[in-house]
This record gives sequence, structure tokens and C-alpha cells, in this order.
Amino acid sequence: MVDVTTLLDFFEDTNIIKNGEVFDLRYVPRHFYIRKEMHRIAENIKMFIKYGIPEHIYLSGKPGSGKTASIKYLQREAEMRGFNLGFYYVSGREYNTKYKIMARICGFERSIDPNKVHDEFFRRVKGKAIIVLDEADLVSPRELNDVCFMFSRWGEAVEVANDSVVLLILIGCNVNLTKSLEPSVFSSLHPKFVFYGSYKKEELFEILRLRAKEGLHDGGWSDEMLEEIAAVCAEEYLGDARFAILALRELAVNSEFRGLDRIEGDIEGAFVKAAENVLIATLSGLGSHELLILYSACRTPEDDRTIGAIRRMYEFACSCAGVKPVKKSKFYEVVHALDRLNVVSTAGKAKAGRGRPLNYVMPLVDEDLTIRYVEGMFDGLRKGLSWG
Ligand SMILES: Nc1ncnc2c1ncn2[C@@H]1O[C@H](COP(=O)(O)OP(=O)(O)O)[C@@H](O)[C@H]1O
Ligand SMILES: [Mg+2]
Repeated sequence: MVDVTTLLDFFEDTNIIKNGEVFDLRYVPRHFYIRKEMHRIAENIKMFIKYGIPEHIYLSGKPGSGKTASIKYLQREAEMRGFNLGFYYVSGREYNTKYKIMARICGFERSIDPNKVHDEFFRRVKGKAIIVLDEADLVSPRELNDVCFMFSRWGEAVEVANDSVVLLILIGCNVNLTKSLEPSVFSSLHPKFVFYGSYKKEELFEILRLRAKEGLHDGGWSDEMLEEIAAVCAEEYLGDARFAILALRELAVNSEFRGLDRIEGDIEGAFVKAAENVLIATLSGLGSHELLILYSACRTPEDDRTIGAIRRMYEFACSCAGVKPVKKSKFYEVVHALDRLNVVSTAGKAKAGRGRPLNYVMPLVDEDLTIRYVEGMFDGLRKGLSWG
């Protein structure tokens, strides 16, 4: 029989990396850097556990400010302490409608009868439950309004079968997200606002140090190196902790492969690689039309990025890629979704009533890398459109 453990004992004979998993962005470290705003959230959770009175929270902040990780850390703490509490985490990135969010909380993976989801949901959520809706910006405003309505009126307007209470924690990047809620929903939700500012270099250093202790061998790293990474991250990468962690990983892996026993190397270069990895992770989460529309925005001359010009480019790109373009209304929807994902910025004159009309669409991503990535996904594009 093959002994699996010896096959996986890869990190036994390494000089620098003790546990590579620690540098995965989804990893919640054992030793967490507690930022001061977390105390307010923890206080809220404690009060909820003790008295069952939910004070809902809207947690906002730039990407990489630790929103997701800090809530997952609190969830783990709560579970470890064995509180009698349901803790449900859902991300709007994958579950972007009220139905999908409810189905996810029930643990259903496939689409099933909405009535069944509804019944099961109200059966499942019992006692004290904390529901975390992460990446709430990615849920369309109407669906978000419905979700907030349901939780804000839990046990009143909404019929719940038992005496359950729900504390909702919404997480998003846009500080003004709750402005899109209907006034009545907003006022009954009455969320407490918690804002995570970007990390300063001292904080990033602390985060890196805890990671290094957990994931690297003693002697494989130095405080000076981590200080430098933290400084570059704070000054050039908006204090987004993702870049610091990935840059450290990049340096560690390179040094390991070069047979060194201590991290050395080009820090700026490691950040460039880290930024590429972050963008590729974002792009790999997009659907075909999202990619083709983003691509078309990147390929439209910079001084003509009107929605009409991009739409024409998109239709041409679809014909090269052998894909049927989506209808105009769907096209607009996708552009709005890209805007919510923060990969494009849109501008248009505000108009009362229906959604904001779009005039301009500006990509916010590294355009060359995006073009290369999308051309790698759709064969015909390179032949039809590329001059490279
Ligand atoms: N306070 C912290 N302590 C330890 N790691 C952190 C902390 N804040 C952020 N991180 C790490 O930085 C990365 C980005 O954090 P994340 O929670 O995903 O940010 P956000 O959800 O705000 O975009 C993750 O890998 C996370 O584990
Ligand atoms: Mg997050």
C-alpha cells in the first residue's frame, strides 16, 4: 500500500515554508490581529447572545481591510465557546438573490422548488441566529432590499414559525450601500455602522508577523523584511492586506526554490506578481459575458469609452469568439454588475425614476493583463481583434 503521509510530507524538508496553506487568502489564522473596530462587533454579538436583542450591523471598508476574515474569526470563536447560536455565512458573490441566499442557508446546493426553500428556511433558522451577508454590494439593490426587509421585520411582518431572533451582519465595500434601501426598510433595520479604514503599516507588519510565525520556519524570515513589505503595501497598495500576504508568499516560495534558507529578493517585483494573482482571481470569478464586456471596455480607445462604443466592440468581440451577444437590457445589467464588482467605474447623468443611465464605462483593472487573460479564454478573439 502506498503511504500517503510520506507523499504529502513535502514541507518536512523545506528551509523556509512550514505550512503554505497559511498564505491562502481564505485562511483564517490561529492568531489574529484584532483591529479595534472588532470590539464593537464583538460587543454586539455578546449582547445578542445574552439578551437576544438584535442590533444589526453594516460593516464596510475597502477590499483587504479584514472584513471577511474578522467575521470568520468571530464565528470560529463563537463556535469554539459552544454558544447556543446558529451562525450562517453567505457571500453575495455566489448567492446574489434572496432565494439563493435562503437556499444556501438551508444547505441546498442545487436549485429546488422555491416553496420548499421558503418552508425549510423558516424551519432551519431557530433560536438565536447570526446571519452574515458578505459582499452585499454584489446583490442587486432590489434583492438586497427584500433580504433586509425580511430580517428587519423578523417575527413581525414576516411570519416565523418559532420564537427565533436574527442578528444580521451586512458586509460591503460601498459605505453608502444602505442608502439604496427603501427608507422604511432602512429605518426598521436601523443598522449600526462599523467602518474599517485601510491598514497602516504598523498593523500590516503585525498581520504579517503573525502569519510568518504560523507559516514559516523560525529563522526563515526577519522583522526587517516584513517591515519593508508592510511599508510598500501601505504606501503603494492602499494598505490592502491581500497584497502584503501574497507578496510575502511570493518571496518565500521564490527563496525556497532558489535553495536559500532565509527570505530574500525583490519586494516590488513580488508585489507586481501579487497584484496579478489578485486580478486573475477576480477574473476567474466572472462569467463569459462579464469577461467579454470588460474586455471590450479595455479594447475601446480611451477617449471613446461610451456605452455605445463599448457595445459595438462587444458585438464584434462576440462574433470573433463565436458567442451570441446578450440583448441590450441584459448588457446594461452586466455593466452594472461589473460596476458593483469594482472592476469598472461607470458615469452617467442622474435621472429620477429608473436606474441611472450609463454614459461612460472605465475599466479599473490592469488592462493589458485583462486583455491577455480574456484572449486566452476565447480563441477567436486573438485572431479577430488583436494587433499584438
Ligand atoms: N486583522 C487581521 N489579522 C489577520 N489577517 C488579516 C487581518 N485582516 C486581514 N487579514 C488577511 O488579509 C486578507 C484580506 O482580508 P479580507 O478579510 O479578505 O478583507 P476584506 O473582506 O475586507 O476584503 C485575508 O487573507 C485575511 O486573512
Ligand atoms: Mg471580503
